[in-house]
Amino acid sequence: MTAYKLLLLPGDGIGPEVMAQVKTVIGALAETGLATFETETDLVGGSSIDAHGVPLTDAALARADAADAVLLGAVGGPKWSGVAYDIRPEAGLLRLRKDLGLFANLRPAICYPALADASALKRELVEGLDIMIVRELTGGVYFGEPKEITTLPDGTKRAVDTQVYTTGEIERIAHVAFDLARKRSGRVASAEKHNVMKSGVLWKEVVTQVHAEHYSDLALEHVLADNCAMQLVRRPKQYDVLVTDNLFGDVLSDVAAMLTGSLGMLPSASLGAVDDKGSRKALYEPVHGSAPDIAGQDLANPLAMIGSLAMALRYSFGLGEAADLLDGAITDALAAGARTKDIAGEGVNPLGTAGMGEAVVAALRSRVR
Ligand code: IPM
Ligand code: MG
Repeated sequence: MTAYKLLLLPGDGIGPEVMAQVKTVIGALAETGLATFETETDLVGGSSIDAHGVPLTDAALARADAADAVLLGAVGGPKWSGVAYDIRPEAGLLRLRKDLGLFANLRPAICYPALADASALKRELVEGLDIMIVRELTGGVYFGEPKEITTLPDGTKRAVDTQVYTTGEIERIAHVAFDLARKRSGRVASAEKHNVMKSGVLWKEVVTQVHAEHYSDLALEHVLADNCAMQLVRRPKQYDVLVTDNLFGDVLSDVAAMLTGSLGMLPSASLGAVDDKGSRKALYEPVHGSAPDIAGQDLANPLAMIGSLAMALRYSFGLGEAADLLDGAITDALAAGARTKDIAGEGVNPLGTAGMGEAVVAALRSRVR
């Protein structure tokens, strides 16, 4: 069997704990003959600042570039709140996204049947929910220049961030969304704010054109991003694929995450363009952050991290069957009552991070048997 090269970047806070569960799952995948990985581990975020003075070294970036895929835990925490803006922990993650060209961020929000009651919304609104948020990840206000704070003559300050998109950037993310929709229900909603933003006007125009030229058999709907946030908590199942820019995607994916019961449930894939050999750069990470308040206490939910490994199997290695088995193992573990504290509900004795990892591995083994 081919041994794929995976770079593990556990990062900060709960990152190392949830990544430890991924290592257990990787061991089980090898044992059961589903997939073999060669893994390397490196630093990112605050842990890299502590060791090297920067949130991502050139050497770590080079390793990420050379790997078949990267798995990242989480970055950031109060410990580094005082470091210079340019070398804050998040800058390491943003550099990985930008320098590896990972423009397409896939954030599936799936409500597992066993968790419908853990959602903040009523069961009937979220049961069976399966949305794919497609977030543009290397453009927009995250990277636009100028991005600065200057001092005005009167001594007060002026801060500028720049929201900028080109036709090409919008076209390529629109293609990703429509291609995914074709394999799903055939419906795409595109969220922007063309009523106040020029970038929104162009976004809507380009998505409309890509649809008309290549995907007129699919259904396209345009929605204002603020209305979209409201619709997500009002009637979330109306959406299938939701394509949007970097900043709106950041916000809307946190909203979608909570529909599924916990931020600890959402995996993500960040993908680059397909090269002439048919491969693409990829980084997989949970949507959740480093949760410093619960770090090191065996409380974190590892399912978003394990789900991110499942996405790697599917999108980087073409191992759809192994990915289905691992996703199925998560479903089984939840159906059998395995819960971490964030999804436990009243009267349930929760498992720790490691206990949940073991529950998934056990479920995987019985699916393979
Ligand atoms: C996310 C996170 C990041 C983002 C932070 C950690 C920089 O919130 O992946 O959603 O804003 O993109
Ligand atoms: Mg976010």
